[in-house]
Amino acid sequence: MLLDHFQSMRGAKSLAVGLTVLAGTTAGFAQTNANDATPVIRIQADQVKATVSPLLYGLMTEEINYSYEGGLYAELIRNRSFKANPTNVVYWSPVGGAAINLDHDTALNDALDSSLKLDASTASAIVPAGIANSGYWGIPLRAKTTYHVSFYAKAAPGFSGPLKVSLASKAGESIVSAEVADLTSDWKKFELDLQTPDLPASKDNVFKLTTATPGILWLQQVSLFPPTYKNRPNGNRPDIMQLLADMHPKFLRLPGGNYLEGDYINERFNWKKTIGDVAQRPGHRSPWNYWSTDGLGLLEYLGWCEDLKMEPVLAVFAGYALKHDYIKPGPDLEPFVQDALDEIQYVTGDTSTKWGAQRAKDGHPEPFPLHYVEVGNEDWFDKSGSYDERFAQFFKAIKAAYPTLQVIATTRVKNVTPDVIDEHYYLSQEQMEAQSHLYDKRARDTGTKVFVGEWATRVGSPTPNMAGALGDAAWMCCLERNSDLVVMNCYAPLFVNVSDPGKSMQWKTDLIGYDALTSYGSPSYYAQVMFSSRHGDQVLATDSQDFPTYSWQPPTRRRTGDEQPRPAQQVPSLFFDATRDSATGTIYVKVVNRADSAQSVAIEISGVNALQPSGLATVLKAQQPDDTNSLKDPRKLVPVTQRIKVPDTFFARSFPAYSITVLELQAR
Ligand code: AHR
Repeated sequence: MLLDHFQSMRGAKSLAVGLTVLAGTTAGFAQTNANDATPVIRIQADQVKATVSPLLYGLMTEEINYSYEGGLYAELIRNRSFKANPTNVVYWSPVGGAAINLDHDTALNDALDSSLKLDASTASAIVPAGIANSGYWGIPLRAKTTYHVSFYAKAAPGFSGPLKVSLASKAGESIVSAEVADLTSDWKKFELDLQTPDLPASKDNVFKLTTATPGILWLQQVSLFPPTYKNRPNGNRPDIMQLLADMHPKFLRLPGGNYLEGDYINERFNWKKTIGDVAQRPGHRSPWNYWSTDGLGLLEYLGWCEDLKMEPVLAVFAGYALKHDYIKPGPDLEPFVQDALDEIQYVTGDTSTKWGAQRAKDGHPEPFPLHYVEVGNEDWFDKSGSYDERFAQFFKAIKAAYPTLQVIATTRVKNVTPDVIDEHYYLSQEQMEAQSHLYDKRARDTGTKVFVGEWATRVGSPTPNMAGALGDAAWMCCLERNSDLVVMNCYAPLFVNVSDPGKSMQWKTDLIGYDALTSYGSPSYYAQVMFSSRHGDQVLATDSQDFPTYSWQPPTRRRTGDEQPRPAQQVPSLFFDATRDSATGTIYVKVVNRADSAQSVAIEISGVNALQPSGLATVLKAQQPDDTNSLKDPRKLVPVTQRIKVPDTFFARSFPAYSITVLELQAR
């Protein structure tokens, strides 16, 4: 259906004797004349201001808010390696009178150096004894689905099983089960598949391992996997991957964030301990205060990139941990520099190289593409002042071995000129809008490009509401308009498990929410989808949108995830940018109306003879700024695309209150 609220403005244009730019007006728009308040967005389609970076939109992730374990990583068992707590068996409960303990003397191997001792001496056919796990706030089960179980077990003399492996309702009724036998006094790996019958999808289930025969046994690496995205073994949750695929991301910044650094040097993301057999990975504590098995390790990140056709932006540990430990630049730092070079070789080297061969052994002979390496994370927190020299040491070594790699610094440095600097912004809606011209005047001749590696408008929790999406969209207009300078950007954090926010959430505003069973995108998520999937490769010249820029200062202490935004500022209500796809000629005009009423705007496109009479308008809008999506109402706010009439190269359109619009117009 063609909408008819486009109105030709050619008459209005000829009446307005010379368009006047009224400086200091709302968003600095040109206006038809002093009495006519209709703002005009003027787009000069014959003036290409810049090229849009092909990697402009991407993803940033880390283990926070149960992002991987209890989130993207499909493992359903919580604390599968019994290392989540050093003294107790947590997240497991005894069944039928069993006694369970953490046994540090019975290790599976050096990495998984303890096990669960299950004393099932009381077991009988009437009251089987064993253990149960209720996953990350539930074990999700779906109808007619195959679940893969694996575990290591060994038994005390006199016990050989059988063990019953079952998926059961929370009330304890078995849904599907199978038996394994022949346990011995040596560790043995057991694997089996369980297929659910027809049942309503639910997360109110448990995993159980029981025996009806009295005995003592030990268990380690008890794992339960549902089907994964593209059936990758040890892979990811399909619903969340699909949400990401719909964002058309071009890169993945990995592995953090604070998760790269760790609270202490020995809690960093130590990539060499995250590859190979998952039963040989020791795991480590995340700075967000829970255990990571590192089941989602370096190669899994790269597989994730491959599945979504993204390239990795690899952040290497740079010798600084969050509680202020740092490694002195010079000889002390050399092993860490070498680790980074090895890591780059693991990602990119062919199989004739040491680490390329290791990657092949781990299951992936083909190298991965890599253009950007980031040295550290938010090193402005390092008050020792060591980053400048640490960065230079990494920079020189990386450039010597890989001259074409672009090296990203995480704060300003003087010793060498970084290729790119990573800037982070967590702001209120008004702050985000007020700095939506930040890069319009940033110098282009410094030799350093910008990566906005973390940013978010922090309004709404656990996921942002429409006010957040409006702030984000104003900001993305700025990023897109300045994409000759801003080569990449990614929202953060990406994920939150919303099951029990007091426990499952460490950071209050996150793009995508889920529980064990379902997931949803916030309004900010849909704003991302609109921007990342609808833009051209050329930035077109538009009117200036000048107004005072909010001036951002780096925080002085580590962020906690629940800071209050600073007070509101006076900001304009309309934001826009325009790009064109040079291959198809489609012109994308993005307009954000943050006001509480519809705004009529005139759009003038010069430099084209004519436009096709029909175009597309994709609109995300809300009744109220705090309208939002949730598990219960996951699609309350979603973008809607409609065909529209385009009467002329100068036309009016009404942009609804609280709305983000992308127009797609075709030149003739
Ligand atoms: O995105 C959450 C955290 O914010 C990141 O881990 C850190 O880099 C930043 O301070």
